[in-house]
Amino acid sequence: MQNSLLSVILATAATGLLAEAARPCANPAGANFQYLIGDVRYDGPGPSNNGELSTIAVSLQSPTRTPLYECVAMWPEAWAGWYNNGSSPVWADCAPAAAGSGQDEMVSFAVDWRKKKIYVAHVFACSDKPGSEGLAIGANTLNLNCTTATDGSNHCIPKGTKDGSPAFSPIITTLAQTPLNATLRCEAPKPYLSWKLQGWVRSIELHPGVAKPASQSGPSFKLVSIPGGNSMNCTTSEPWKQTNGTSVGTCQSANPGIPAASFSFDFGLGILSISQHSKCTDSLRNDIAGVFYMQDSCQRGVNGDRYQLTCTSGPVWIGTETF
Ligand SMILES: *[C@@H]1O[C@H](CO)[C@@H](O)[C@H](O)[C@H]1NC(C)=O
Ligand SMILES: *[C@@H]1O[C@H](CO)[C@@H](O)[C@H](O)[C@H]1NC(C)=O
Ligand SMILES: *[C@@H]1O[C@H](CO)[C@@H](O)[C@H](O)[C@H]1NC(C)=O
Ligand SMILES: *[C@@H]1O[C@H](CO)[C@@H](O)[C@H](O)[C@H]1NC(C)=O
Ligand SMILES: *[C@@H]1O[C@H](CO)[C@@H](O)[C@H](O)[C@H]1NC(C)=O
Repeated sequence: MQNSLLSVILATAATGLLAEAARPCANPAGANFQYLIGDVRYDGPGPSNNGELSTIAVSLQSPTRTPLYECVAMWPEAWAGWYNNGSSPVWADCAPAAAGSGQDEMVSFAVDWRKKKIYVAHVFACSDKPGSEGLAIGANTLNLNCTTATDGSNHCIPKGTKDGSPAFSPIITTLAQTPLNATLRCEAPKPYLSWKLQGWVRSIELHPGVAKPASQSGPSFKLVSIPGGNSMNCTTSEPWKQTNGTSVGTCQSANPGIPAASFSFDFGLGILSISQHSKCTDSLRNDIAGVFYMQDSCQRGVNGDRYQLTCTSGPVWIGTETF
C-alpha cells in the first residue's frame, strides 16, 4: 500500500497534474465518478469463421478527454459476453493508457452483447481512509452501428460518427462499498461480491522448434474477497492435458470458516472461471461465480534443452453478476 501510494504520487508529480492520488470513500451520499467512452470497436468472426473469437475494445477517458484505460476482451461469438452463453458475464482488465493518469488501482469491464450494455468497475485507494480501498460500479448502453460483410463477419463502431468522434453519454460509477471490510452480510441487502486477484503465475515448457507446449503448469494466484477482505491461496490440482485445454484447482483460506473456492482455466481462451459456495444458514446461501478473460504476459527462459515461459499478471478485479 505504501509503495503503490508513493508511485501514484510520483506519477502525478511527473505529469504535473493536480489530480488527487486517490479518491474519497466516505461520502455518505455515495460518491460518483465519471468516464467518457473514447472509442468502441467490435469485431465478430461470423458463423463461417468457426473457432475465431469476437473482440471488443473500449477506451475510457477522463471528463477532459485524457485517455485513461484501454479495455479489451475476447470470447467465442456465441457467448455474447456471457461465459458459455450462460448467466456469468466475462470480466476483463482495462489497462492504463500511455498517459497513465488514472486514479485507480484496478479497472475492469464486461459487455452484455445481447443488450449492448457495458459495465465498468474500479478499485482505488481511499484518500479519506488511509489503508482502505473503495469500489465503484456503473453501466451504460453502447449505441452502435454494426455492418455484416459477405463472409458473415461483422464489425460495429459508434453510431453516427462519420469522423470517428464518439457520441456516448458518460459512464457514471457510484461508490458501492469500501472493500476490506470484514462485515460480510448474508441476509439482504447483500453487498456486491467480487474478488481481487494477485500474484498470478503459470509456466509453459516448450521443446525448441515445436509449437505445441510440452507441458503447462496451470496457474497459481491469491484471491482477496471484496468486501470480506479474507484471502485464499489458489493452486492447480489438475494441470493442462493435451486432450482438454483446461486445468482445474482450488482456493483455500487459512481461516477454516471460509469455504474453499474452485477454479478452472481454459488455456486456449485465457478464460478463468471461479466459483464459491457458502452456506450462511440452512436457508441462506451465497453462491458466487466470477469469470475473467486473463491477459498475462510471458517471459522466456531456458531450462536444460527446453524453453520455459513464465507468465504473470498484475492485480485484476474479478466481478460476479452484473449490476
Ligand atoms: C444464448 O442464450 C440466449 C438466452 O439465454 C438464447 O436465446 C440464445 O439462443 C443462446 N445462443 C446460443 C448461440 O446458444
Ligand atoms: C452506419 O455505417 C454505415 C457504413 O459505414 C454508414 O453508411 C451509415 O451512415 C452509418 N449509420 C449511422 C446511423 O451511423
Ligand atoms: C462495513 O460495512 C458495514 C455495512 O455496510 C458498515 O456498517 C460498517 O461501517 C463498515 N465498516 C467499516 C470499517 O468500513
Ligand atoms: C476438462 O476437464 C476438467 C476436469 O477434468 C473438466 O472440469 C472440464 O469440464 C473439461 N473441459 C472440457 C472442455 O472438456
Ligand atoms: C498463502 O501462501 C503464502 C505464501 O506462500 C503464505 O504466506 C500464506 O500464509 C498462505 N495463505 C493461506 C490463506 O493459506
